[in-house]
Amino acid sequence: MRRIITVSLLICIANMAWAQTISSPDRNLKLTFALSADGQASYALTYKNKPVIKTSNLGIELKDTQSLINGFRIAKVDTLLHDSSWEPVWGEVKTIRNYYKELTVTLQQPSTDRTVVLRFRLFNDGLGFRYELPRQEKLTHFIVKDEATEFAMAGDHKAFWIPGDYDTNEYYYTTSKLTEINPLERSGAIEISTRTPIAEAVQTPLMMKSADGLYINIHEAALVNYPAMHVQLDKNKLKFTSHLVPNAIGNKAHLQTPANTPWRTILVSDRAADMLASKTILNLNEPSKIADTDWIKPVKYVGIWWEMHVGTGSWNYSDETNLILKDTDWSKLKPNGRHAANTINTKRYIDFAAAHGFDGVLVEGWNIGWEDWFGQGKEDVFDFVTPYPDFDVKELHRYAASKNVKLIMHHETSASATNYERRMDDAYRFMKANGYDAVKTGYVGRIIPRGEWHDGQWMVNHYNRVAEKAASYKIMVDAHEPVRPTGLHRTYPNWLANEAARGNEFNAWSIGNPPEHETILPFTRLMGGPMDYTPGIFEIKMDYYAAKAGRQPNGNQVHTTLAKQLALYVTLYSPLQMAADLPEAYEKRLDAFQFIKDVAVDWDDTKILEAEPGDYITTARQAKGKQEWFVGSITDESKRVSTISLNFLKPKQKYVAVVYADAPNAHWKDNPMAYEIKKYLVDAATVLKINIAAGGGAAISIREAKPEELKSVRKYKEKAIR
Ligand code: NOJ
Ligand code: CA
Repeated sequence: MRRIITVSLLICIANMAWAQTISSPDRNLKLTFALSADGQASYALTYKNKPVIKTSNLGIELKDTQSLINGFRIAKVDTLLHDSSWEPVWGEVKTIRNYYKELTVTLQQPSTDRTVVLRFRLFNDGLGFRYELPRQEKLTHFIVKDEATEFAMAGDHKAFWIPGDYDTNEYYYTTSKLTEINPLERSGAIEISTRTPIAEAVQTPLMMKSADGLYINIHEAALVNYPAMHVQLDKNKLKFTSHLVPNAIGNKAHLQTPANTPWRTILVSDRAADMLASKTILNLNEPSKIADTDWIKPVKYVGIWWEMHVGTGSWNYSDETNLILKDTDWSKLKPNGRHAANTINTKRYIDFAAAHGFDGVLVEGWNIGWEDWFGQGKEDVFDFVTPYPDFDVKELHRYAASKNVKLIMHHETSASATNYERRMDDAYRFMKANGYDAVKTGYVGRIIPRGEWHDGQWMVNHYNRVAEKAASYKIMVDAHEPVRPTGLHRTYPNWLANEAARGNEFNAWSIGNPPEHETILPFTRLMGGPMDYTPGIFEIKMDYYAAKAGRQPNGNQVHTTLAKQLALYVTLYSPLQMAADLPEAYEKRLDAFQFIKDVAVDWDDTKILEAEPGDYITTARQAKGKQEWFVGSITDESKRVSTISLNFLKPKQKYVAVVYADAPNAHWKDNPMAYEIKKYLVDAATVLKINIAAGGGAAISIREAKPEELKSVRKYKEKAIR
């Protein structure tokens, strides 16, 4: 299906105000572009005639030359209707429709003889627009001092926000009115290792809800060769202005024509579910640059990981604290006896993965350099090719292959991106030679090149280079501590997931993630792409592991019930999902573990059944190529009844639903590990009612009933499950 209608207008209007309005294909959204008499460009957006963005200025401030802010006249206007469909390599749905009305305004600045193109794409669920700077004589190499894009809000909305920060997105969210946003006061999450918070700015994706029931989300798509955009609020005017992350010398972006900014996105609907179902950010990204994608596969994995976070194991092999990479003979060091990434332990994990059908085993701490890896400002921290003396790469390659399991590489860079760039080719060749085809990267610490930030143009280019280079070696990527995603996994489908937010790991060693956290993430961080959240923690209270590690109890815990940890495999979309707890935690509860074993990581269809940011989410997904559905339902700190109509099932077919729910007395704090598993015969007419505990959740697997089950499995009768 492809329908494109183009209309072009050639106009030359000087000193005259001018405006044009276009509508979304369903006519609910209306975008008005205007140029004032003095040549200032602006836009405004309405949804079902309610204001979403009030008149907001557009422009780019340049360094040492006249800015691209005003004094424009219109040179050309084009409109077009686009309608096509595409199939993602992996994803939440099989087919994605790309359906929008486009308005392209070519502006000319007579005083400089420069041209800027503003391209707007209006979808049924939102707007994307960007600045395009075509190749031209009077604008070749230039520096962006700042971008002057405004987002004037129509009311003092409720917002779900984290502080603006040039280095991290690992904050928990605050819910407040726009006028109550106070980033610096709320930035006291001291357990984040590297922070550079900024006054009055908040990060995107920024989720808002208006008093009259509109859900509005501001973010960006296709962040390439440009810094990340935060948004700075003028509380009196309720107006956000773009705040770009600077580089080491205080500039925002160094560009050369032809150049485009990323798309600025504003999603809007009167249904929260539409936010979660939106494909607009993906649609605004370029199609895959990888021609042959057969080697790219969604991955379910376990790993030598949580034991370091709970303190029963260590990344480092010895307890020395001052080592120089090239001068150290690690075989001469005294082992500390806690090094988790050893050959025997890795084989245990491979056995566990093979026994339970996992694709991969991540091993962290396998390589030399962890003794003084963090916070020392070292450039040569890791070489990415030398294992510790107790980690036998060749033998593990052989062993993993014999069990049909893939080892997953870990490249913590300690934020020394220069070191990583120098060693990347060797590192990827080493991976391929030893049977690895996926890498988890990490950027903990202050960035090298010194003075650069995690979210500036240099690092944005670095993350993108890593994805591209990894693709050339047929390697899949999972980046931790990168800039937050903007849909680039359409262009680089080998870039399976990112962390780029506060993951489950914070529950191990900090005040953790409040029970509402996972009900906000899909509306914020995940708008840009999948997250490696690492769900599946069964041993909810960390004092259990503290006792094993011989440490003082500190009361840290996961702020959910066990059943909610299961539900996260469905509600937090990712083609890369970890079963994050230790094998012993699963071996004790194999009945609940069955859900993690069964749940798919690639989908043909997704239905958002219930959703309210900060409160609850219920999602149903159909496994790729199968008549199997998985449902996840989660709540915040308030208990609730989840009402789940199974009308997405095939009519007349009977199915078996296995419901993994909170036990009647479950509670995220007082009794988090109490769950119940029940089996029912269901069909498309069934409406499940499930009690969800405070901080709780439910997970359901649904498959076609076998003939003998039609009698042996009891039929679901409508009453709350408990
Ligand atoms: C932070 C990452 O998020 C975590 O997963 C990893 O274990 C540590 N860095 C060490 O690289
Ligand atoms: Ca992290």
